[in-house]
Amino acid sequence: MIEGLKAGLALIGVVAVSLLTIAMLITFERPPIDSTQIGYDGVGMVDHVNPRLEEEVQARNEPPFSLGAVPPGGRPAGEAYENVQVLADLSEDQFNHLMVGITNWVSPEEGCAYCHNLENLASDELYTKVVSRRMIQMTMTINSEYSDHVGQTGVNCYTCHRGNNVPEYLWVEEDGPKAMAGVSASRQDQNVPTRIAGYSTMPYTALETLLTEPGANIRVATQSALPFVREAGAAPPPDIKDTEVTYSLMMNMSQGLGVNCTYCHNSRNWSSWEQSTPMRVTAWHGIQMAQDINANYLIPLQPVLPENRLGPAGDAPKANCETCHQGLALPMNGAPMLEDHPELGESYK
Ligand code: HEC
Ligand code: HEC
Ligand code: HEC
Ligand code: HEC
Repeated sequence: MIEGLKAGLALIGVVAVSLLTIAMLITFERPPIDSTQIGYDGVGMVDHVNPRLEEEVQARNEPPFSLGAVPPGGRPAGEAYENVQVLADLSEDQFNHLMVGITNWVSPEEGCAYCHNLENLASDELYTKVVSRRMIQMTMTINSEYSDHVGQTGVNCYTCHRGNNVPEYLWVEEDGPKAMAGVSASRQDQNVPTRIAGYSTMPYTALETLLTEPGANIRVATQSALPFVREAGAAPPPDIKDTEVTYSLMMNMSQGLGVNCTYCHNSRNWSSWEQSTPMRVTAWHGIQMAQDINANYLIPLQPVLPENRLGPAGDAPKANCETCHQGLALPMNGAPMLEDHPELGESYK
């Protein structure tokens, strides 16, 4: 009887030690989330880093190979070549240097032939060349008009493309199930797990509603009591549905930068700028920039693109924060993108 009890206890001991070892091994392979306090004590403002994802995120954010800069001076490209509509003021050398850069950033495997008929470089017969001309103008606009966002770091084609013909992180309108199978009620564009909404129940229409039109209204918090008492003819205040669209955009932004809400906000008051971090102001300029490049550059390219490049709803692919940021608050950890190519920092207008 005593012997049996002893054996039983020993068995329990062995099982317990094994479980503990397994638990320790699992914890060892799955280190916990790292947290850093970024606000005053007690306000819950914390940045999180997931060590399990860090390696993959960092690998995705290696800066491109540097070609060095080319000194200005020499014959202008507009004189040297036949059909130069945007880059005419560059010197011939700068122009060729940029063509090599573009090739490395966008079509390293296909080379010049991705955009050119090699028998006739002046020809615009390939749609990729026509798209690229607009992409060059877009890049110049980002660098020259949105320095409040991109600073001196700037962007070049690699910031979005990373050596791919089409950037890995872009978005198109969800052609999601608008109604649940067998149920007549509409889904109200939500309650479907989509990447756009960070797999939450929030609406998947946030990007098309708030990131395609300059000035689209993101603010939903009422700033006065009794907001429903309003002057005749005044616009209705934002409702719960509008609020959900804003939250969905915020999820998408956080996902793109790999941060949580308190990177920008003090969550005790989402709307208050005084209580937000300086990052929120930079982010505000980023929102203006994303709305501009979608509305004025990427959406109008729809008729130029072949069908296999369009989304299921027939729309052209568009950019969001993730297109450049790819999981980091500073794309490629802040590697300078204009150093070798100052010409992309000029305005084309
Ligand atoms: C991703 C697209 C793309 C790639 C790749 C590319 N180019 Fe270009 N190329 C353009 C665009 C766009 C223009 C027109 C620029 C303008 O209108 O200001 C152009 C124009 C030119 C011209 C001027 C032709 C003329 O007479 O009008 C030359 C020369 C040229 N490229 C050479 C090259 C070389 C060499 C390579 C490979 C090292 C290359 N390009 C790779 C997009 C590309
Ligand atoms: C802000 C992000 C961004 C930057 C910067 C950017 N692109 Fe793009 N590019 C996109 C998106 C999004 C698409 C897909 C939609 C489209 O084709 O219009 C795209 C598509 C393209 C395509 C079409 C490829 C295909 O196979 O259909 C070419 C070519 C291209 N870009 C060239 C360039 C060049 C050259 C530069 C730099 C001068 C550049 N891009 C800079 C976002 C960007
Ligand atoms: C990278 C910075 C950033 C992150 C991260 C972020 N936000 Fe925002 N948020 C902003 C900016 C900028 C605005 C203001 C937009 C405007 O005024 O046009 C805003 C606005 C809001 C508003 C509307 C405030 C008002 O005045 O009505 C809410 C609510 C909000 N955010 C919630 C969140 C939540 C919840 C999260 C996390 C899921 C989050 N935010 C993550 C930058 C951020
Ligand atoms: C065209 C590329 C591009 C897009 C699109 C973009 N950003 Fe940025 N963002 C940058 C670059 C480049 C920097 C670095 C600027 C610097 O070094 O000063 C940056 C910096 C930031 C920072 C400052 C981070 C820090 O730690 O200092 C925030 C916050 C930010 N972006 C938020 C956003 C949000 C939110 C969006 C989408 C609404 C967005 N960005 C879209 C390129 C982009």
